[in-house]
Amino acid sequence: MDSIVVTGGNKLNGVIPISGAKNATLPLMIASLLSSQPLILQNVPHLADVESLIRILTNHGVDYRVEGKRRNHNGQQGRNISFRAEEIVDTTAPYELVSKMRASFWVIGPLLARMHVAKVSLPGGCAIGTRPVDMFLESLTALGAKIEIENGYAIAEAPGGLVGVDFTFNKVSVGATHVALMASTLAKGKTILRNCAREPEIGDLANCLNAMGAKISGIGSGTLTIEGVKELHGATHTVLPDRIETGTYAMAVAMTGGDVLLKGARPDDLRFALDLLVKAGVGIEETNEGLRVTRNGAALKPVDVGTEPFPGFPTDLQAQFMALMTMADGESRITENIFENRFMHVQELVRLGANIDLEGKTAVIKGPCVLTGAQVMATDLRASVSLVIAGLVADGDTTVNRVYHLDRGFEHLEEKLTACGAKIERVSS
Ligand code: EPZ
Repeated sequence: MDSIVVTGGNKLNGVIPISGAKNATLPLMIASLLSSQPLILQNVPHLADVESLIRILTNHGVDYRVEGKRRNHNGQQGRNISFRAEEIVDTTAPYELVSKMRASFWVIGPLLARMHVAKVSLPGGCAIGTRPVDMFLESLTALGAKIEIENGYAIAEAPGGLVGVDFTFNKVSVGATHVALMASTLAKGKTILRNCAREPEIGDLANCLNAMGAKISGIGSGTLTIEGVKELHGATHTVLPDRIETGTYAMAVAMTGGDVLLKGARPDDLRFALDLLVKAGVGIEETNEGLRVTRNGAALKPVDVGTEPFPGFPTDLQAQFMALMTMADGESRITENIFENRFMHVQELVRLGANIDLEGKTAVIKGPCVLTGAQVMATDLRASVSLVIAGLVADGDTTVNRVYHLDRGFEHLEEKLTACGAKIERVSS
């Protein structure tokens, strides 16, 4: 299994092009199930999760075609992939495929909307928490589906098609919002979805669905109104830049010091995190090319934060910010409010020399810590990358095992960091 070896001590200087967002790409790909015509997605990142989802979609009958190399707006070579679900030949998403990636459960929405039946394996728990699907099932039931759970599968049908409804989510969920939104585009009549997640990836999906002929209003707000249409047509859509990748590299520069342009980044999508970095003493400058992140020799200040749904501080940057706060001069507190078990990186950061105590859902970090290289591993993507950025400032070599987590969500990680002066390499064993 591959590992990544980071030798700490180098500042980061240069340019990092920001890739298309993983968490926008996945629902956009799933939206291709809603139409018999091609959906062409531009700026699709090379990620293991994208490949896993391609396997699931092709099992339903989706054809895909990767177009030749393209340069995207920030000079990087994003992929253009065309997805065509001309005929859906199989409405079952089997356990073997869904268990590999949780978001694949989301196919239940478009399958029900277009085919009026779906049998989708329940995704189960995962390393960061139990992650139930109750709100997916409640919203689809409200739209008229009958759903039974049998042998680990959600078996859903809506014989006459889905019907518009006024539905309020009892908690903010990104996935449940994506699914109810996709499903209601083809429902009869008007649907109002309240207490929706407002993450930029939801807006990206809604804009793409509108380009496919859907009638969605309220995009960017917590209430989405959808006038159902009979069918959706093809479209071409460019995936938005990855705000979590942007925040991760911004925190990496904040740790090592240096001067890096995050090319193509969209600062509005991570305003909370950027304000936090400024409070910590990091230089953030918005340019017409993206975001410039700088830190000179000045000490970092400790800052407290709790994760919240957008526009709050994202849980997907919690681990990276914790790594950063090990370098701050004083005590900081980071509270995880979204997932109950998203602290798997804490003990690994401690192995690198961090001084972190857990008090329930709050981590108390006493900096500045002297980090020294060690063997580490993590059980999820963002935790893994927090160990990589900690390795950039640790004394000596840090070996991050289980690299497949990183490959799920960070495109060309080693190349991007190496180009800015980091010493990082992938080692096959
Ligand atoms: C999305 O997961 C992201 N995944 C996650 O990114 C991200 O951490 C998360 O949103 C929160 O921002 C993708 O976009 C592919 P949720 P999702 O439903 O949709 C509870 C990464 O590293 N909940 O918004 O699964 C749930 O347990 C990842 O890229 C219910 O109780 O997250 C959690 O506590 C990991 N019932 C909270 O809501 C439900 O039916 C928010 O989860 C659904 C969710």
